[in-house]
Amino acid sequence: MTEESLRDDEIRQQVKDQYEKFPYPAGATDLHKFIEQKSYQLGCPSRWFHCYWPYATATDDLDILIAGCGTTQAAKFAINLPNARITAIDISENSINHTRMLMNKHGITNVTLHKMPIESIPELGNTYDLIISTGVIHHLPDPATGLKALREVLRQNGSMYLMLYAKYGRDGVYYMQDMFRRMGITAANATREDLEGLASLVEILPEYHSLTAKRLFFNDLGSRSHIELVDLFLHPRDRAYSIPDVYSLLEECGMRMQKMLFRAHYDPVCTPLLHSPFFSQIRSLPLAERLAIGELFRAGSIVHYFIACRDDRPEETCVTDIHGDDWMRLIPVKQPGISVTSIDTPEGKKNVIFCPIHQFRDLCYPVDEILLEFFHSIDGVTPAGQLIEKLLPRMGDAYEVDDMRIFLEDMETYDYIWFRGQSCA
Ligand SMILES: C[S@@+](CC[C@H](N)C(=O)[O-])C[C@H]1O[C@@H](n2cnc3c(N)ncnc32)[C@H](O)[C@@H]1O
Repeated sequence: MTEESLRDDEIRQQVKDQYEKFPYPAGATDLHKFIEQKSYQLGCPSRWFHCYWPYATATDDLDILIAGCGTTQAAKFAINLPNARITAIDISENSINHTRMLMNKHGITNVTLHKMPIESIPELGNTYDLIISTGVIHHLPDPATGLKALREVLRQNGSMYLMLYAKYGRDGVYYMQDMFRRMGITAANATREDLEGLASLVEILPEYHSLTAKRLFFNDLGSRSHIELVDLFLHPRDRAYSIPDVYSLLEECGMRMQKMLFRAHYDPVCTPLLHSPFFSQIRSLPLAERLAIGELFRAGSIVHYFIACRDDRPEETCVTDIHGDDWMRLIPVKQPGISVTSIDTPEGKKNVIFCPIHQFRDLCYPVDEILLEFFHSIDGVTPAGQLIEKLLPRMGDAYEVDDMRIFLEDMETYDYIWFRGQSCA
């Protein structure tokens, strides 16, 4: 055994111990509220089905793997997808036990639990339509080994819904991690007083500290539970990825990007770069490069959410193209939760569309009354062509049909809509 692999094993054990002592996420001893409020998990096919399979008929008759399920994710997916067959794995026995407790409490019978590492998943001998792994792969000793194992059990037309930490928004977190490591304070030995001290230290960081500038993105750092503070500041191993790192990891594992979620966080079109003298150069670059540039411009993303697929998945099963000849046959579908509000501008009131869960608050899209009417008419079942036909009398000389295509393209770039094909229900 090399020194490196011994060190890997040691950290692997520390990661496991952390999630035994501090199962993540905290709380949720029952899911009554989740059920009563008809809540849903981000990325759940009950809402996002056509992001994974734009040309298929929506169904929850799916084989799903939740890799690194933590305490609540598997039970919530099972509630949202009663006909799915869900396999959930985790290395933390306490997280598995918590999930089992929730399943018993709510009579959930469509989840099979296994205490095992992601790297061993091919040993189960199953394959899956959808693999969910959020906040896990960046904690593995070798993320590529873990992702390759997941790729091995993903069906050819399947998808993965992944979340990895992002590099530029988390730099301040790494300064804090390094600081506590130097003090010898770890997830294993931190006392209650240490954790309380840690929470108050965050409050007195200098104003020029990177974490102070970005604390807005970490949802009320001051009121985080001890479990969350440990996960953020005392983790024995986490990595963060830039957009090029994400693309390289996928390529190394025989996968490709299917859809970058929250694309507006990265796309230069959604930043002041759009009106800069550099935009004509930027627009000629491939999408991955454009997103990398937008990411560097904002330098604030804390996580990347994306859908990936095998590199041998046929394009025609997963790509919709608003530039294609058939664009009028595409059906726009609104992202859940998209809202419209009016803001004051020097010219008066202006309606803007916005996504309440975008990380960056400047992201919004101004619309006049005609565009707003068009946006409101999107119902998830009517093709773009028919929506535009109905709007024609209102468009008059103000808009051409192609302007409406450009508007739909913008709506997709801003994450307000996605498209599905017409042949599917
Ligand atoms: C930050 S939590 C995320 C939990 C869940 N995915 C969510 O989003 O709520 C990370 C989880 O990954 C698990 N984990 C870490 N390394 C793992 C591995 N090699 N195989 C399986 N699970 C692992 C941990 O035990 C922990 O429950």
